Formats: sequence, C-alpha cells, structure tokens
Amino acid sequence: MAMIAAKCPRYEVTVVDVNAERIGAWQSDALPIYEPGLLDVVKQVRGRNLFFSTDVASAIDKAEIIFVSVNTPTKTFGEGAGKAPDLQYWEKTARTIVEASRGNKVVVEKSTLPVRTAHAMERILNSNRKGIRFEVLSNPEFLAEGTAMRDLELPDRVLIGSHQTPEGIAARDALVEIYANWVPREQIITSNVWSAELSKLASNAFLAQRISSINSISALCEKTAADVSEVSRAIGLDSRIGSRFLNASVGFGGSCFRKDILNLVYLCETCGLPEIARYWQGVIAINEHQKTRFVQTIVSAMFDTIADKRIALLGFAFKKDTGDTRDSPAIAIARKLLEEQALVVVSDPKALANARLDLAGAPAGRLLFEEDPLQAARGAHALAILTEWDVYRTLDFRAIFDAMEKPAFVFDGRNILDHKALYSIGFNVYPIGKPPLTHL
Ligand code: UGA
Repeated sequence: MAMIAAKCPRYEVTVVDVNAERIGAWQSDALPIYEPGLLDVVKQVRGRNLFFSTDVASAIDKAEIIFVSVNTPTKTFGEGAGKAPDLQYWEKTARTIVEASRGNKVVVEKSTLPVRTAHAMERILNSNRKGIRFEVLSNPEFLAEGTAMRDLELPDRVLIGSHQTPEGIAARDALVEIYANWVPREQIITSNVWSAELSKLASNAFLAQRISSINSISALCEKTAADVSEVSRAIGLDSRIGSRFLNASVGFGGSCFRKDILNLVYLCETCGLPEIARYWQGVIAINEHQKTRFVQTIVSAMFDTIADKRIALLGFAFKKDTGDTRDSPAIAIARKLLEEQALVVVSDPKALANARLDLAGAPAGRLLFEEDPLQAARGAHALAILTEWDVYRTLDFRAIFDAMEKPAFVFDGRNILDHKALYSIGFNVYPIGKPPLTHL
C-alpha cells in the first residue's frame, strides 16, 4: 500500500487494522516489520496520501477499492487441520465489509487463498440486503521478504484475476489503472479469478520444489565426491532451467512455502487427486528431511554426542535481511539440538526477539541469546550457519577460532563461507552437499 501511495499521488490509501499497537507502530519510525527501504517510502507518503487507522468501518465505507490482506494460517483444528487454510479471518472481514458499506465496491483478494475462495467470499458479500454490489478480484502478491521494495517497484508481473463479465472487467480495469502508474502494461497480466488464485499457489510450489530438488541432490553429493554448487551451476546454465533458486540450504522457511504447498495438497485431495497431492507433499517431506539430516551431520561429526556442548547458531531468520522467523528452519534445528541436550546459543542481527518467542519453553539453562557472533562463539564447540546474512561472510574467523573449544567445527547450512580458508585456520568444516574438510 505504501508503494501504491508513492506511485499514485492521486489516490488516497488508508491502511486499517484492529490491532491499535501495530497501527501505532506504522505511524512511528519503528515500523512493526523490518524490511529494507520500507521506512523511506512510508515516510515519503505518510500523512500525504497514506494513512493508518483503527477505524475499520469508516475506512471501508469511504473506499472504492478494498484490498484484503488478513492472515490465512494453516488450520489447527477440525476438517483439514494441518493442511487447509483457516479462513475465519477472511470471512469475518467479508462480513465487516458488508456491514460497513453503503455503496458498491471492488474487493481485492491480496491474501493467498485456495482456489475458489473468491467465489465463497462473493456469496457472502453479495448476500447483503442493502442492494450493494461487490465485485471480487484476485490480485496475488509475489514480493519476497528482504527484497520487497524492489519486487514491488520492478515486479516480474502483476496478476489480476476477474470475472469475464462487464462488471468484472470494469473492476479489473480500475485495478490495472493503479498498477499502470509504474508497471509497464505488458507486465500487468489478467486472467480469470480461479487461474489467478491457483497461479499464486503454483508459483510458490514451483519455487519450493526447486529448493527441495537441489537439496535432494545435496544429500547425494554428500555421499559421493560431487559438489552441489558445481552441480547447480551446471544445471542452472541451461537456459530452460535458469540459475536462480538453486542454492542448496538447510531447508526453506518463511510464512508461505510450506503453508501454500499444504494448501495445494489439501486442494488436490479434496478434488480426488491423491497422486498429485502426494507429489507436492514430497516437496515438504524433503525439506523436513534436510533439517533432520543437518542435525544428524552435526551429531555424527561431533563424535556422536553433543550433550552439554555449546553450539552457536549464526542466523535465526528464515532468510537474510528480515527479522521474520516464521517457519524458519532454525526453529526445528534449535529444537532438535536442544533435544540432544546441547547448549544452544542463538545469534541473529534482526531476529532475536522472534527467536525468543519461537523457542519459549526450552529447558532452563540450555538456551542463550547473543547478538554479537563472536560472543556467541566464545567457548562453543561448533558454529552452525543457518541464515545467509552478509555480515557472516566477513567475520574475523581467526578470532572466533581462538575463542572456541577445540576441535572447532563449522556447519555451513547456507554454503556462504570460504570453506578452504576456514579449514586452514583449523576448523573442521561441514558444508551442505560438499565433502567435509576435516583435520580429524
Ligand atoms: C516467497 C516467494 O519467493 C515470493 O514470490 C512470494 O510472494 C512469497 O513467498 C509469498 O508468498 O509471500 P519469501 O518467503 O519472502 O518469498 O522468501 P524466498 O526468497 O522465496 O525464500 C524462501 C525460503 O527459501 C527461505 O528460507 C530461503 O532461504 C530459501 N531458499 C531460497 C533456499 O533455501 N534456496 C534458494 O535457492 C532460495
């Protein structure tokens, strides 16, 4: 919304939330999320044509176009628990929109939703007795965290799904007009509503599938003399495949990939397509396996026991340049290390507050938080790189080595360090998908 306000000075944008604390934070310089470049854009437009408010009803009533971006977490109860999205927030929002509206409106699905949600929402919205007509569009968001501002400014494409009726097309064109303020027309693509909804789930599933594919190859590399970076380079130079999203890692995380694939799996199951459901479930299974494998490597390299050994986790965010830890592989890895009775020290430049919440309830005395990587490493037997923060590439590893217990281990879950240099300092180095470099 900040980007729309910045690019379209003629439009007035009001962001509403029932959470007053968050709205307060949006009105301050301490935004509720860390995203590079966001504060600059917010400051440029806040009070000009971007407003934040808790007065949901009046903002709805005044708006011609309403973007709904409420969360759709995976259901934890009842039918479809663990797979289907929990649509209660979406439905409540639809009812709030009906209540607060006095005129026709376009309602845009921004939240990622299963196919045919727009249809259900439309039925709720248009069952009103006020004679108001709502036109529902699907306009999925493809930005990635950490690069959100660039992704919004220069999107590969903007997708708008609408009904192919005159009203649907008019609503669609109103939204196209907004994006056309800065996105080239040929990159604004349109489709029917269901295609737009499914494209969002399928895009994330394809991206996650690439990561699981390369991670599956990384396991094979570790059993042979192959090097996964060499393999991914060779694969990625095929222009049909392309080189992006082929970095082997400790597993994908984030609030979307797992949730959206589970959504897709559930959809396939309910559509009577169990083979297709199993296929996509496999992408998640490999991701879980990758985290388990990483911990198994740590335990077996460190003489089959890590009990009472201090292990410093460098990075807790699910990727660099964000403080977001939702579904971060670091959570599962930290828990598994704690189960092995290790002493875990978590370090991260932006995600420590979230890490504390994620690991609440850990056994007393076994979990520490330390922002400075050198302090985290002091007295540790091992470092595990879990997030690819740039600062980790240039740490003083000689000083870190001197401060650690010996033999000192590095488990590079992101393959971002100079492994040969670490080895020559004296570390035993275990990358992902490459032969380890050990002095033992
Ligand atoms: C993802 C998609 O990339 C966006 O297009 C989409 O809009 C978004 O989900 C969403 O649905 O909201 P995001 O989760 O922010 O974006 O982050 P990604 O850059 O996709 O990374 C996801 C995970 O995959 C991270 O844990 C990352 O470290 C991991 N990853 C990524 C790898 O392990 N290897 C890679 O080569 C790339």
